[in-house]
Amino acid sequence: MTIVGRQDEGEERDLVIREARSEEIPGVARLMCGAHPWTYFGYGEAECAARLRNPRLTLYVAEQDGTVVAFAQINPQGSFGGVWIELICVDEARRGRGVGTALIGYVTETRYPHANIYLTVSAVNPRAQALYERLGFVQVGEITDYNFAGVSEYLMRLSRGPRREQYRTHL
Ligand SMILES: CC(C)(COP(=O)(O)OP(=O)(O)OC[C@H]1O[C@@H](n2cnc3c(N)ncnc32)[C@H](O)[C@@H]1OP(=O)(O)O)[C@@H](O)C(=O)NCCC(=O)NCCS
Repeated sequence: MTIVGRQDEGEERDLVIREARSEEIPGVARLMCGAHPWTYFGYGEAECAARLRNPRLTLYVAEQDGTVVAFAQINPQGSFGGVWIELICVDEARRGRGVGTALIGYVTETRYPHANIYLTVSAVNPRAQALYERLGFVQVGEITDYNFAGVSEYLMRLSRGPRREQYRTHL
C-alpha cells in the first residue's frame, strides 16, 4: 500500500506518509545533511545516505504534492525492547506547520501503537526536545559526551506501560 497516512487539516493538507523507495535515498540524504543538527555534526551526503540505507531500519517519507518534504528512520527493534526513532527531519521551508507532529504521530499511533517508543535528542537541539515533550515523551536519561566531548544526548521515552504488559497483549 502506498498511501498509508494522511493529514487533512490546517495548511498541511494532502500529506502522504509511506515507506521510502530506494531511489529516493539520495534526495533524502540531501535533506538530512543540509539540516541542523547534522550540519553541526559535520555529516556529508554520502555519510547520510549510508545511514539511511541501513537495511535493519525502516525509512518513512512524508510527501506533499509529489515532493518528499520530511522523513523518519525507525528501528522497530531498538534497545530496551522498544521502537526507536533514529532520525526525523522536515524540510526547512515546511517546518512549524505540523509535518513533524504528523510524522511522529504516524509512527507512534499508526505503525507502533502498542510499543514503548524511544529517541535521543541532542542538547544542541532544544526546540526538537520541546516538541517531543509536547507529544508525550519524557526524558529518562542523559548520555554525556555522546557525539562530541561536552555535548550530551538526552534519552526520551513515550511510555505505553511496562514491557511485560506489551508482550502479553501482543502474543
Ligand atoms: C524537529 C522537526 C522534525 C519538527 O518538525 P516540524 O514540522 O517543524 O514540527 P511541527 O510543525 O509539528 O511542530 C513545531 C514545533 O517543532 C519544534 N521545532 C524544532 N525545531 C524547529 C524548527 N527549526 N522550526 C520549527 N519548529 C521546530 C518546536 O517545538 C516547534 O514548536 P514551537 O514553534 O512552539 O517552538 C523539524 O523542525 C526539523 O526537521 N528540524 C531539523 C532536524 C532535527 O532537529 N531533527 C530532530 C533530531 S532529534
